[in-house]
Amino acid sequence: MAEIYPGLETLEKTHDESRQGEALSISSEKKSKNNGKFLYVESYGCAMNFSDSEIIASILVEEGFSVTKNFNEADLLLINTCSIRDKAEEKIRMRISELKAVKIKKPEALIGIMGCMAERLKAQLLEEEKVVDLVVGPDAYRELPALVRSAEDGSKAINVLLSREETYADINPVRLNSNGITAFISIMRGCDNMCSFCVVPFTRGRERSRDAYSIVREAQELFNAGYREVTLLGQNVDSYKWSSEETNESVSFAQLLERVALVNPLLRVRFSTSHPKDITDEVLHTIKKYHNICKYIHLPVQSGSSRVLELMNRTYNREWYMERVDAIRRIIPECSISADIISGFCTETEEDHQQTLSMMDYVRYVMAYMFAYSERPGTLAARQLKDDVAPEIKSRRLQEIVDLQHVHQAEENKSEPGNIYEVLVEGTSKRSKEQLFGRSSQNKVLIFPKGNLKPGDYVNVRVLSATSATLIGEVVN
Ligand code: SAH
Ligand code: SF4
Ligand code: F3S
Repeated sequence: MAEIYPGLETLEKTHDESRQGEALSISSEKKSKNNGKFLYVESYGCAMNFSDSEIIASILVEEGFSVTKNFNEADLLLINTCSIRDKAEEKIRMRISELKAVKIKKPEALIGIMGCMAERLKAQLLEEEKVVDLVVGPDAYRELPALVRSAEDGSKAINVLLSREETYADINPVRLNSNGITAFISIMRGCDNMCSFCVVPFTRGRERSRDAYSIVREAQELFNAGYREVTLLGQNVDSYKWSSEETNESVSFAQLLERVALVNPLLRVRFSTSHPKDITDEVLHTIKKYHNICKYIHLPVQSGSSRVLELMNRTYNREWYMERVDAIRRIIPECSISADIISGFCTETEEDHQQTLSMMDYVRYVMAYMFAYSERPGTLAARQLKDDVAPEIKSRRLQEIVDLQHVHQAEENKSEPGNIYEVLVEGTSKRSKEQLFGRSSQNKVLIFPKGNLKPGDYVNVRVLSATSATLIGEVVN
């Protein structure tokens, strides 16, 4: 779940690291009361976590909190955490010790750990990190007001209960750090796949799909507020399935995509993450049918070796994955594909690794998130398999994967000049105030002169030149 971040990803620059520790500022005022207190939220991990932070903020703004970007003035500091790899947790531990300084200056300030680390470590976190006052898991955010009150009264507060139903469907997220053009919509929570390397099923609980009507309503409200792109989020969007208890109607992911696409032709629709075992031709035909559904699929492969895929419990093999890629090419020839890849999973041989490289040659991903395997306590792999690939071999293989990905991207970019893309303008380029940036349907980042354009406009851009991560272009009519 990560293709939302534009640009070339490098060695171990991952979901959690590419957007680590981002402090959130509030973009819309929706306050019914004011308690005079400031809330500071910092988020790590995948897009779902960033989306959850908007739910957390919404719940606490209702309670009267104001959101601040400055943790020194905060009365409540929340860190929304990620457990996906050991490094992600290490980083958060370091951040917790940095935040101790706030408490020295302002002893009444409260520090809370939200999200996946809270769920994985539970009360152990309170024991290990004395500075922490609150530990709240991903399905317990509605309890935050009560938990904060109890922490204010001096007792440590914890709720890490997972739910089979919670989707926060009725909570209108406060859009944080928003550019006013692109937004996330969570369409489901949890994960029922048991990929043997993965901690998510333990930190996020069982898979459940959100009411389709509430999703379409949220998309419509975003469009009315000026947003022009929504990304539908789930760990495995293709297994989205919602049934209404009243009408007995049942909505699949392909049908949901269609409903959101029909909100308005000017509202772009993206989604993440697709699972190779579940992505159907029906979904591909729906993507093809609607111009505003982006021609871009993030299809994590993890490994190119069928033997390793089986140990990973991914439930597809090399041939199945290639067939799905062929289907994408056949049905949506203009579609770009990106992936997640893990190097050095348990028992991985040089030959398995070569199969991953040859898979990359076969697909030629436009972008990839690449990781060295990190054993996570409690997962199937940790319990049943030996983490037996030496660290230096893992990193050498990872480096080869990263290098190959760079070669593919550089080759692809060489052929870009002259191509024309329809771009949704997202904002001002970091390089110059006179330049804007936006993305193509295929998720390519383009930079071009500002002219009279503004964020939210659609414009055709012809590519003039390319750097490794960005295309530089000119506006054409
Ligand atoms: N639901 C998504 C992925 C969520 S986690 C999917 O199924 O594709 C994001 C990525 O982190 C995974 O795709 C995987 O490549 C990586 N990842 C997960 N657990 C990992 C681990 N233990 N070590 C290294 N990388 C891991
Ligand atoms: Fe983890 Fe697999 Fe679920 Fe993705 S599909 S979140 S990798 S268990
Ligand atoms: Fe996301 Fe990290 Fe949790 S990737 S689901 S925040 S473990």
